[in-house]
Amino acid sequence: MIREDIDRIVSEIEALKCKTQKEVEEARVRFLGKKGEITALFDEFRTVDKAIKAEFGRPLNELKQKALSRIEELKENVVADTSANGPKQDLSMPGEPVALGSRHPVSIVRQEIVDIFRKFGYDVAEGPEIEDDYHVFEALNFPPNHPARDMQDTFFVSAGHLNPLLLRTHTSSVQVRSMESMKLPIRVICPGRVFRNEAISARAHCIFHQVEGLYIDENVTFADLKQAILLFAREMFGPETQIRMRPSYFPFTEPSAEVDVSCNICHGKGCNICKGTGWLEILGCGMVDPNVLEASGIDSKKYSGFAFGMGLERIAMLKWQVNDLRHYFENDMRFLQEFATAPEV
Ligand code: PHE
Repeated sequence: MIREDIDRIVSEIEALKCKTQKEVEEARVRFLGKKGEITALFDEFRTVDKAIKAEFGRPLNELKQKALSRIEELKENVVADTSANGPKQDLSMPGEPVALGSRHPVSIVRQEIVDIFRKFGYDVAEGPEIEDDYHVFEALNFPPNHPARDMQDTFFVSAGHLNPLLLRTHTSSVQVRSMESMKLPIRVICPGRVFRNEAISARAHCIFHQVEGLYIDENVTFADLKQAILLFAREMFGPETQIRMRPSYFPFTEPSAEVDVSCNICHGKGCNICKGTGWLEILGCGMVDPNVLEASGIDSKKYSGFAFGMGLERIAMLKWQVNDLRHYFENDMRFLQEFATAPEV
């Protein structure tokens, strides 16, 4: 009697099919409820004699376990099914929030510099990263084999003899293209990525970013250059900022200078960021060499101009006191998240 009942119920349970939670609950009650079939078998089992108990104790327990897990399984299937059939969802619920990224520190600095020079009336110009020798060197007064070319270790793309292609080593190439194509007077800044064959270290990388600037008009003097740089430095680093110019050399400018700003961390007293000097070097500049103007068809008797160029990673390092340039290229989330700001609207 018990044996047959057990076998029958096992096959019924295996064949069970339910479409709704309600049907699952009904099946549970039918087999496992207080008056359920399995419960009844247990009641019957209690009354039988010892020999039968020994024989059917275990199959009966197994039956109960089987019924319990089958009911669980059916419950889960019903839940999965309802969602797959696309059903009663509350479409007015708010969506999953999308995590916003943040700007890269180099982009933040570039934007700040671009905004400052836009206020001064400069346009933004861009040019190719793969350039020819003419626009990177020749037109900028680097004659072939001139030792000044060694200042910037170049990645060559093609080794053609006349005008090889290379990865630009500075965005001064964009200034040349601006002089070739724009009407005078010219006021441009050229942000962009540049490449130099340098060993990667805390202070140097083979890829970095520059903003260079160019102003050409009649009667532009060194005093104009100095004033433009001073105004820029005060906008960028604060109204108390002082600048100083040290004589330097670039093939495309004469005279040339390197510009330091007063250290905005120790205010000139000397700290480890400015290495105790009170000054931080931020850019190179100078009066555009007449040869450079003439190479691009500009009359150097009538026009003069100044140019300047700065490295964005360096400025970002000073601004946030980052001591290793490589952080800017490794895209480590822990570093990048430090620059997360409220989303812009
Ligand atoms: N092109 C120079 C460099 O990359 C920077 C510079 C630009 C210097 C303009 C003077 C004038 O180092």
